[in-house]
Amino acid sequence: MIKVLFVCLGNICRSPMAEFILKDMINKRGESQNYDIQSRATSNYNEIEKEGIYGEAKQMLKKMNIPFTEHQSKQIRKEDYETYDYILAMEKRNVEDIKKIVGSDKEHKIYRLLDFTEQPGDIADPWYTGDFDTTYYDIVYGCEKFLESINR
Ligand code: 4NP
Repeated sequence: MIKVLFVCLGNICRSPMAEFILKDMINKRGESQNYDIQSRATSNYNEIEKEGIYGEAKQMLKKMNIPFTEHQSKQIRKEDYETYDYILAMEKRNVEDIKKIVGSDKEHKIYRLLDFTEQPGDIADPWYTGDFDTTYYDIVYGCEKFLESINR
């Protein structure tokens, strides 16, 4: 079982999009039973509010025929570091915030998703940019390269 945790700031746009995009890729390969894929926030704001996936992020998933289920935003906890094999952040700030919560990355589990690609970098926050298309394609690119890298 490969355990993957996607992490962004609010857990209502990028990380749940990534969760359901990767689940769809894995499902299409017939390998769902081999993976546990979840998502979390670094901030506690949306933990208190218990938000679902943000409307425009949902619309994007619907447009691309990516199935998704009920979601409740949740903050990453220290013990998640032990549970998951890969903790995949959207941007540098997420990596820094994750380390503040879980401690140092002694088992080298924390990455930025796009660091698996030929164009390492941050995935912009569509909550601020309003550009859910770019976010979607960046996540797809990152997830494809992530799978290539771990299945090598
Ligand atoms: P996300 O986007 O990190 O991709 O889920 C955000 C969603 C909500 C907020 C910030 C970022 N917020 O401040 O509520």
